Amino acid sequence: MLEIVNVKKEIPSQYESVAKFSDTITTEDRISYVSLIFPHHKDVNPIIHELIKNNVCHQTYTGALTTIPQNGSGNRHIKEIDKLFSWIEDSLSDCVDKLAVNSGSIYTASPEVFKNFKIAEYWAMFYPMGSGATSHTHFPYPISFAYYVNVPDGSSPFTLNGDDIPVEDGMLIVFAGDVYHEVKKSNCEERSMISGNVIFVPNIPEQSSWE
Ligand SMILES: [Fe+2]
Repeated sequence: MLEIVNVKKEIPSQYESVAKFSDTITTEDRISYVSLIFPHHKDVNPIIHELIKNNVCHQTYTGALTTIPQNGSGNRHIKEIDKLFSWIEDSLSDCVDKLAVNSGSIYTASPEVFKNFKIAEYWAMFYPMGSGATSHTHFPYPISFAYYVNVPDGSSPFTLNGDDIPVEDGMLIVFAGDVYHEVKKSNCEERSMISGNVIFVPNIPEQSSWE
């Protein structure tokens, strides 16, 4: 006969607590994005803006220019890129904690040491006057970011799920990758930013193996 070890056997009370937990989740109260400002943006953004201008190579049908996608380790030999991306990766745990509130995910009970995030891929966007980006998602990535490098007066906001979020130099927005977003027609020249996707790489310690 199968013997279950290390399992609490008070099944009825566990069912009750599951039901109570479900009652506490209010998905309407879930936030859709987190924003913060990179403290060193005044030092690195002018250099990154020039890099973007020099490396955009494709024009979308909405007029925006893009670089080719890079994986998260690409260009880390450039100290300004590495400084920015290291800060983003260090910030992601706090950002995801906020996005996880009312998500119903068991992630909310994860130990701090598990919370490790990496940039999986990124690309830069450069918006000439009149250009924009049509509504899209970053599915199948669950977490995405937008980092604003050069935001002249008249720049379009970041429109997430229909809501206009004003952006500024050095602003990082972390959002759920399956949420629709767009950039309305630009009323300025040279708006530039870096867009990317994030993967969750939990630092799970070595466990005993299944026998
Ligand atoms: Fe996007």
